[in-house]
Amino acid sequence: MNFPYQIKNLEQYQQEYKRSLDDPSGFWGDIAEHFTWKKKWDTVVQSDFHHADTRWFEGAQLNITENCLDRHLADRGDHTAILFEPNDPNKEVQKISYAELHKRVMEFAWVLKNNGVKKGDRVCIYMGMIPELAIAVLACARLGAVHSVIFGGFSAQSISDRIQDAQANCVITCDGANRGAKTIPLKSVIDDALVSCNTVNKVIVYDHIQTPVSMIKGRDAWWNEEVDKVQQSGNTYFPAESMDAEDLLFILYTSGSTGKPKGVVHTTAGYMVWAHYTFVNVFQYQPGQVHFCTADIGWITGHSYIVYGPLSAGATTLMFEGVPTWPDAGRFWEITDKHQVDILYTAPTAIRSLMGFGKEPLQGKDLSTLKVLGTVGEPINSEAWHWYDKEIGKEKTPIVDTWWQTETGGIMISNLAGVTPSKPTYATLPLPGIAPELVDENGNVIEGMDVSGNLCIAKPWPGMIRTTYGNHERCIETYFSAYKGKYFTGDGCLRDAEGMYRITGRVDDVLNVSGHRIGTAEVENAINMHEGVVESAIVGYPHDVKGQGIYAYVIFSGDSSNPDLLKADILQTVSRLIGPIAKPDKIQLVSGLPKTRSGKIMRRILRKIAEGESDKIGDTSTLLNPEVVDEILLNFI
Ligand code: PRX
Repeated sequence: MNFPYQIKNLEQYQQEYKRSLDDPSGFWGDIAEHFTWKKKWDTVVQSDFHHADTRWFEGAQLNITENCLDRHLADRGDHTAILFEPNDPNKEVQKISYAELHKRVMEFAWVLKNNGVKKGDRVCIYMGMIPELAIAVLACARLGAVHSVIFGGFSAQSISDRIQDAQANCVITCDGANRGAKTIPLKSVIDDALVSCNTVNKVIVYDHIQTPVSMIKGRDAWWNEEVDKVQQSGNTYFPAESMDAEDLLFILYTSGSTGKPKGVVHTTAGYMVWAHYTFVNVFQYQPGQVHFCTADIGWITGHSYIVYGPLSAGATTLMFEGVPTWPDAGRFWEITDKHQVDILYTAPTAIRSLMGFGKEPLQGKDLSTLKVLGTVGEPINSEAWHWYDKEIGKEKTPIVDTWWQTETGGIMISNLAGVTPSKPTYATLPLPGIAPELVDENGNVIEGMDVSGNLCIAKPWPGMIRTTYGNHERCIETYFSAYKGKYFTGDGCLRDAEGMYRITGRVDDVLNVSGHRIGTAEVENAINMHEGVVESAIVGYPHDVKGQGIYAYVIFSGDSSNPDLLKADILQTVSRLIGPIAKPDKIQLVSGLPKTRSGKIMRRILRKIAEGESDKIGDTSTLLNPEVVDEILLNFI
């Protein structure tokens, strides 16, 4: 496969960027010619930001799996599509060729069909990081079902909320997952979730860790037995369903500033073109390279840069089941050495955590195959950037700092590896098709250089969010209302003297903890469910490894004679209602929260206290209850 739209130098980037904004239909129409379509489009793009209504490649028909699988069979059918590194380094690596993956996806599409899943149905996937997860995702797409992957760190309650919101009728899961020294009983979590979900009539279970599970007659089926039946039928070819360009491809739930996660919807054609184009350009992927994205497929990064981006380009995508620090902190480097990884894409949290182990885990690991390093998910601090550059990249490997979001489908602002300039801690320049604008609180566009403001995107791009599942008004309200005619990202950003962009963090009530996006309202709602809790307030504070930590101020009215036990109970409640990833790092019991006279919690003050900047609290005399600020400061953890 060759990529004639792969940008090769800065001048070309500037030309392509200009053309993409001057003539988006011509630009994206030309790129789209390089994909497999069942029917070509009538129009390239139509958009009305006021109603959150954007359509790309309308009139076209396609199936994304033909682009990720079938089209590679003739010239790279025997190349490795998925390279699987198991949790246990002593277990056997799996290499799944494009031909094998194609076969397994089709067989599993038959399994779904035989179990009653139809085009347009929603299928919830809750699995560990194993090849079967990618197969499940692709099989849904083959058949035209909408996948909703849920990260393995979410609790039964969170899963149940997501299943009910999507009205899913089928769940695909494993008996359990391996994560370092631990195992996670996924099927049992699903069983708890399904107690309150009456839409689900089928659960397909992959037997991965051979842990005991309860299989419910009529509802639950074993993955392997179902695949055997398909193989025995003798008819394993599953034709790719014809999908309209704007048919739903997937839903991915993400946190916002309200208590309820939103189902971000991506559709077929635009997302495919965007995931592919950004993969090929940002990482400067060359045929034959091994791409190692350390994210989980439960997040958007895994969707776009483990599954759809790399596979659409015929790449070898490396899936790693385990964690970076088990059995020791050299695991990423050992994998890089063992599989001769060309592109490594990870999160600043992982870099900071591994940096803390010093040079020892790097001893004897050959990292010389690395051509590109990437980061994603949160701002990268200067120290981590330089460590990554020096120790991993040996000061000769380009680092791409890629800014984007679940809602954007793919990378929006980033340097192109070795092609456009990089600048430590800066995402740098927008990709072709992306029109960033900085706006002030009144919605005025801030022109010029050396300025900062709220980051908006002024023009449609192929991978953009189409709706929030089941509630289009919410999509308009959340993303397209704050600044008329623009998509609002929720991020603060600065543009330096050279026009380079640096993301400074969220400006709304969303935290970014270890690159995981967590809504403060969600955590507060969970804490408030705990018996005896009257009210709570969550804020973020700087954390050396996680980027941000979660600080909880809790008013408790019950018996608090054993505060340690009480705090542990609160953590347990958050784990049960959301998942362990949302557990506060610090809990401070307080008798009141600073409020305005109209009863609004003054989060700014709480944030300053948690950040250890109590000298910057400012005037508290207008508060309803200024005395609580002194009390909070006195007992500050
Ligand atoms: O605040 C930004 C931060 O992560 C948010 C998006 O989170 P999520 O939808 O979970 O997607 C993460 C993976 C794409 C953004 O609003 N963020 C993401 N990438 C960067 C970043 N902040 C700074 N620099 C980045 N490179």
